[in-house]
Amino acid sequence: MGFEMMAAGVAYHLCFLLLVTQVQGSNFDVKAYGAKANGMTDDSKAINSAWKDACAAKEASTVVIAKGNYMVGPLKFEGPCTAPVTVKVQGTLKAPADPKRLRDDWVAFRNVEGLTVSGGGIFDGQGAIAWSVNNCAKTGKCNSLPTNLQFTKLTNSKIEGITSLNSKLFHMNILNCNNVTFQNIVINAPKNSLNTDGIHIGRSTMVNITGATIKTGDDCVSLGDGCQQINVEKVTCGPGHGISIGSLGRYHDEQPVIGVTVRNCTLTNTENGVRIKTWPASPSGVASNVNFEDIIMNNVSNPILIDQEYCPYNNCLAKVPSRVKISDVRFEGIRGTSATQVAVKIVCSRGLPCQNVFVEDINLVYNGKEGSSTSLCANVKPQVSGKVFPATCTPSA
Ligand SMILES: *[C@@H]1O[C@H](CO)[C@@H](O)[C@H](O)[C@H]1NC(C)=O
Ligand SMILES: *[C@@H]1O[C@H](CO)[C@@H](O)[C@H](O)[C@H]1NC(C)=O
Ligand SMILES: *[C@@H]1O[C@H](CO)[C@@H](O)[C@H](O)[C@H]1NC(C)=O
Ligand SMILES: *[C@@H]1O[C@H](CO)[C@@H](O)[C@H](O)[C@H]1NC(C)=O
Repeated sequence: MGFEMMAAGVAYHLCFLLLVTQVQGSNFDVKAYGAKANGMTDDSKAINSAWKDACAAKEASTVVIAKGNYMVGPLKFEGPCTAPVTVKVQGTLKAPADPKRLRDDWVAFRNVEGLTVSGGGIFDGQGAIAWSVNNCAKTGKCNSLPTNLQFTKLTNSKIEGITSLNSKLFHMNILNCNNVTFQNIVINAPKNSLNTDGIHIGRSTMVNITGATIKTGDDCVSLGDGCQQINVEKVTCGPGHGISIGSLGRYHDEQPVIGVTVRNCTLTNTENGVRIKTWPASPSGVASNVNFEDIIMNNVSNPILIDQEYCPYNNCLAKVPSRVKISDVRFEGIRGTSATQVAVKIVCSRGLPCQNVFVEDINLVYNGKEGSSTSLCANVKPQVSGKVFPATCTPSA
């Protein structure tokens, strides 16, 4: 028995040693590459070099950004890599506050299969100066400001437990990705920060956002054209502009949006709840198979909204109907309070009325001098079931 225990002990130690050696062998600590983490020295080079080596490693590897403050300019985590790579961010990364010191994105992950980003770290965009010089609304051009975190062409990847603070423009921009999960994400910027969308997804398939707390100055989660099989769940929004599909129909050659589920989310004090917006006078487009279900609204200004006459700053031909076709949309189990009297607004295109809109189990309360909540509908005949308040698109509503 003594011998057995000893043998087991030796085996255990051997195992442990092997494990440790393997983990160390595949760890790329940015401090070993010269990162100072003192909040002053530019650590970009060290981090970019650690990534290059990790990405070229033959076995799975980890870039470690341990606790500390790292001042960094543009970071490029670019593949293809030889094996899966994890970027474990435990520290706080800070962008230069002056937007002129960044050309495009601040931190970009690109063209990687099997990427994991984890560690509970913080990406601080230090956006205050950028917001004060932002004139996108006037010029329509926002390209000169950097996104905090850009994810392009990632496949089979997972981004979990990271925080994005005070981005200069979008916090997280997901483009051309396939099968990527974003789990337990935190996003934080003030209500009045311009164009700081929380998570924007475009031209991607199988993106799963599960668990996020998003406080920001623009859309909480927004989906652009070409999104398919997108799942958004357990997201808490507010302040901000809510969860949005679109705007669609602004450009030619937009790809269809098909298969979106937004479920089990809570929105508080946002400008909109769940919405689909398309431009008038648009090229043709498609948004179909969209489900909004189990959503709590707390003092939300436009809790349920389809707006096919979306025309901010009046720079469009508002009289010409949108040619984006909206079909198979379900609003189910949406409850709470509206900050405006019109709690449900479904205004579809005169040229292409919405088809197969389902409205089920809605309870949106408004307490104002004007009376209780109402709905407003155009070019849509939804199928209503369960208890729906306010009465939606009935002839008397
Ligand atoms: C999606 O990616 C995960 C890794 O994050 C992987 O385990 C899973 O098999 C992938 N699914 C498909 C359908 O490729
Ligand atoms: C999204 O990810 C969560 C957590 O991994 C998982 O439980 C859920 O099934 C996923 N949803 C979809 C639609 O892939
Ligand atoms: C989300 O799901 C959890 C667990 O089922 C539940 O406790 C919570 O009330 C749900 N929230 C919403 C907004 O539906
Ligand atoms: C409700 O929303 C309105 C409009 O956004 C806002 O003015 C008001 O302060 C909010 N009320 C509460 C109790 O947060």
